[in-house]
Amino acid sequence: MKMKKLAAVALAVVMSVSMLAGCGSSNDKKSAESSTSANGTATVKTAKDGVLTMATNATFPPYESYEGNDIVGIDADIAKAIADKLGLKLEIQDMEFNSIITAVQSGKADLGLAGMTVTDERKQSVDFTDSYATGIQSVIVKEGSSIKSIDDLKGKKIGVQLATTGDIYAKDDFGEENVEEYNKGADAVMALTSGKIDAVIIDNQPAKAFVKTTDGLQILDTDYVQEDYAAAIQKGNTDLLNAVNGALKELKEDGTIQKILDKYIK
Ligand code: ARG
Repeated sequence: MKMKKLAAVALAVVMSVSMLAGCGSSNDKKSAESSTSANGTATVKTAKDGVLTMATNATFPPYESYEGNDIVGIDADIAKAIADKLGLKLEIQDMEFNSIITAVQSGKADLGLAGMTVTDERKQSVDFTDSYATGIQSVIVKEGSSIKSIDDLKGKKIGVQLATTGDIYAKDDFGEENVEEYNKGADAVMALTSGKIDAVIIDNQPAKAFVKTTDGLQILDTDYVQEDYAAAIQKGNTDLLNAVNGALKELKEDGTIQKILDKYIK
């Protein structure tokens, strides 16, 4: 009888401890690592307890750009939806585009989400989640430009955002000496407007956003390269990869991803 009672007390203690852990505060390390969040989703270990840290480069509308002090766009909304599913708070870190992979590799950020194209080269450094969107590299020129097709770019000065796939393809196809690298796509577009360069190669949605807000530019009617966008995750972090892929799957199935895309791409 005595033994039984003791066991019951012990069980009650264990239960209340685990219940506490279950709805534990976000700064309790153990609970963040091994408990379940309020909505029942198993939580994963992240760079900062209770927080999903997203590394991005907010120069890339409609995927990520500033609205006042806030970073808004498709990637910000998708990351927020993923964080909600995982019972985590979202924190966005803005950095240079070519620092994102390093931030993810070093574990400073959990997720690189930046309209980032899945490439074999990047796969050597990070893992990619399932794709959530597609992109196309397009070419912006001045209205009335003699450049009418990809072939016309030969020997012309091409502006790109540093370390993007546009940069890589342009150098491969037209020679390094013909490619001008800028920190931001918008800087390349400014250089095009002022006549410093002849064309800009950049993803189609930002291209549309830039052309809309700048006079005298047009996008060539050609699809240079088709791409898949995905989130980058630290290599070998399969717990986080699986958790994010699980969240993405649900968000695709319940129409959330499409809703977010439609909100920004009209
Ligand atoms: N899709 C291109 C790439 O992955 C460009 C992405 C640029 N993204 C940004 N947030 N600036 O290289």
